[in-house]
Amino acid sequence: MVSGAVIEFSHLTKRFGGVAAVDDLSFRVEPGVVTGFLGPNGAGKTTTLRSLLGLVRPTSGSATFDGRPYAQLADPLRVVGTALEASSFHAGRSARDHLRVAAAAAGLPLASADAALVKVGLDSVARRRVGGFSLGMRQRLGLAFALLGDPGVLVLDEPINGLDPEGIRWIRELLRAYAAEGRTVLVSSHLLSEVQQTVDRAVVIARGRIVYQGDLAAMSAGGGARVRVDAADRPALGAALAGAVVAAGADGFVVTGLEPGEIGLRAHRAGVPLTLLAPERDGLEDVFLHLVGADPAAAHAAGGDAVGPSAHGPGEVRR
Ligand SMILES: Nc1ncnc2c1ncn2[C@@H]1O[C@H](COP(=O)(O)OP(=O)(O)OP(=O)(O)O)[C@@H](O)[C@H]1O
Ligand SMILES: [Mg+2]
Repeated sequence: MVSGAVIEFSHLTKRFGGVAAVDDLSFRVEPGVVTGFLGPNGAGKTTTLRSLLGLVRPTSGSATFDGRPYAQLADPLRVVGTALEASSFHAGRSARDHLRVAAAAAGLPLASADAALVKVGLDSVARRRVGGFSLGMRQRLGLAFALLGDPGVLVLDEPINGLDPEGIRWIRELLRAYAAEGRTVLVSSHLLSEVQQTVDRAVVIARGRIVYQGDLAAMSAGGGARVRVDAADRPALGAALAGAVVAAGADGFVVTGLEPGEIGLRAHRAGVPLTLLAPERDGLEDVFLHLVGADPAAAHAAGGDAVGPSAHGPGEVRR
């Protein structure tokens, strides 16, 4: 097993002018799982990750690896591998040269450059000029930098952006394998669907504040309990399900807060034969969108308690 560090954000705040891009953020990222850092554009993800890596000076609070800020790590590239937003590469230089320069600068063996290129699947184009690389190839090259020092921690900002479906599956497997080895993996995305099958835990932020942290599965637990139901006699069905219908459309009613069995029983008692009774399993995207829109109803639906801003527990929802 490789030992990954615990990343800890404690009351991290970063203001640009009068505006708090990151506002009193506290959470832990544990080794052994993939943690998704999710939020819409402008939520503060990059600012948070840049603060963690010493590229932005926090207004207050701290971000540490096993208790140490990045600047105090003795051998940073061996501890943390990072790939932040589309890195600037020298167009005329080869992928291999880029990595060998970085390896030399970090005191790593030059062979680590080739090893990293193999890991990201760029070994066959290692000697090609980076200027001719596609967006997906650039993403892979960025990741090769992150893997160079064989680090116990990976911090990746939107690594999936620009990858095709094959590339997405590849990076998903790589991140899961790294976590399974006991490493710490923190990966940001503005698209839940992009990382849904990759991450175990989620930290969701909106406007610089945490709106959810906990298991991804728990986030959807309440939101997933939507059932689509229809009958020839819609008025009678509506009466039988009074209070539980949240939407009505051409394809029937959407009901929340009732199990399918209970819906069937109520319809039966009212003498209304159902023509449709279908649980909607994938309510996760809806829950996510409600969360980042800070809709309090969704916070309850997410299965966590809406709690005060001082509590920090697994699976909690904060507003
Ligand atoms: N250097 C800066 N100067 C001023 N404002 C900044 C600076 N960097 C970020 N911001 C602001 O901070 C907020 C958070 O930006 P940030 O880049 O952290 O968001 P993000 O979650 O990474 O968004 P995206 O999904 O678009 O990458 C935004 O309102 C942004 O305009
Ligand atoms: Mg960003």
